[in-house]
Amino acid sequence: MANKCEFRTLPDLNLARNRTQSFSFDYQGVTYPESLAKYAKGKTYFIHTYGCQANYRDEEVMAGMLEHLGFKRATEIGNADLVILNTCAVRENAEQKVYGMIGELKKYKTADNSRLFCICGCMVQQKHIIEFITKTFKHIDLIFGTHNITKLPQMLDEVIRRRIRLVDVESSPTKIEENLPSSRLSSFKAFINISYGCDKFCTYCIVPYTRGKERSRLMKDILEEAKELKELGYQEVTLLGQNVNAYGKDLKDGSTFAKLLEEVAKIGIPRVRFLTSHPWDFTEEIVDVIAKYKNVMKYIHLPVQSGSSEILRLMGRRYDAEKYLGLVKMIREKVPDCALSTDIIVGFPNETYEQFLETVELCKNVQYDSAFTFIYSPRNGTPAAKIKDNVSSKDKSLRFRELVKVLEEGISKKSAEMVGKTYDVLVEGASEKNPEMLSGYTEKNKLVHFKGDLSLVGKIVPVKILESHTYSMIGELVK
Ligand code: 5AD
Ligand code: SF4
Repeated sequence: MANKCEFRTLPDLNLARNRTQSFSFDYQGVTYPESLAKYAKGKTYFIHTYGCQANYRDEEVMAGMLEHLGFKRATEIGNADLVILNTCAVRENAEQKVYGMIGELKKYKTADNSRLFCICGCMVQQKHIIEFITKTFKHIDLIFGTHNITKLPQMLDEVIRRRIRLVDVESSPTKIEENLPSSRLSSFKAFINISYGCDKFCTYCIVPYTRGKERSRLMKDILEEAKELKELGYQEVTLLGQNVNAYGKDLKDGSTFAKLLEEVAKIGIPRVRFLTSHPWDFTEEIVDVIAKYKNVMKYIHLPVQSGSSEILRLMGRRYDAEKYLGLVKMIREKVPDCALSTDIIVGFPNETYEQFLETVELCKNVQYDSAFTFIYSPRNGTPAAKIKDNVSSKDKSLRFRELVKVLEEGISKKSAEMVGKTYDVLVEGASEKNPEMLSGYTEKNKLVHFKGDLSLVGKIVPVKILESHTYSMIGELVK
């Protein structure tokens, strides 16, 4: 029989919307129950992460805590004593994948009832999802949220000692925690959180509810982390936030993203990136810093979402197509060789075909180097989900395919121009498709495959491009 389920706290989207709560900085680090450390001896864990880089960074912190306790990383989900599904809520298909995986886990529990299964991340910041999971899947032992990850040791300990199932998901963050352990997923590329949450409330987006109020880490803490990574030999850092350009606004101590980027660049890590930018807060000072420092990669992810000013207004994006194009022009003037990528949502409620064509036009105009396109997915609790939509899913799919075709034509053309030229590539490892090849990324984030020795992994090497495809290149190592 399944254990009793204890509901400690349940999230509430109305509370999550609140932006008046204050928060504090906490330098105490994590506390670990001794009984859990005893339990962890000889046991393994597996974390399956879905979604964005913020989730991957959370995985690293959770892995850091578990390894501190004595758990070892398992090679696959099927043989781990403890499994955590770290979920994403940004679109419905992300949630469907998680349900599929929860279903898979059941057979492992049937085979060995002592195994522990947990779910965390953005998806379970929604009450209706928790209600569904706890009712339908009795083999899930622990559900916790994005705001109480560092309580994982206490929660696990309780689940094990008291033989209960536990749900503990708070609606809002109360602090920024520093001095957290971390088992990084790479020894040469790292993410650094610079801010958490988002205050933009684009009308389609669930993130401001699942990740809470926008809050920046102190510049000194970020710089300390970057310096540590430099000393450890890291070749690349990515400054992470839902909206990096707004960094520092909440601190009211004069910190800005431009200043932070400049200070990180000065530390001298070979590659500095940042993710994600919102066109609203993208200042000229930021562009000047990108232009000034060779180690700030000339690659900006600048989500446009739509090329129609009317749709942008309904999305609550705070800019129109003209303003966006003005920003692109300013970037191109100051950083002529800057690569741009974007996110686009096709089929926002009641989008007309003409409005969709405005998106196509904008894409042709900007000539993106890469793009992530999505079909609009209604998210429970967001304003857009309440709009009655007159566009059929068939039309949305047709528009989606039409846009991808246009984007791919532009991207292929740009890729073809790279043939014959040599680029610095940070080598990631053996190619997934062909283990005889290595794979890595250029400064402008193009994926390159080439023949070489595994000893090059983690190094930046020159590679001449021989062949171009839309999403990857074939090259040869320049000796
Ligand atoms: N439907 C489809 N795409 C969405 N995104 C965010 N919310 C939704 C939604 N409800 C996309 C946006 C964002 C990216 C991370 O995901 O394009 O930039
Ligand atoms: Fe979502 Fe908009 Fe915030 Fe990005 S800026 S996370 S799209 S609300």
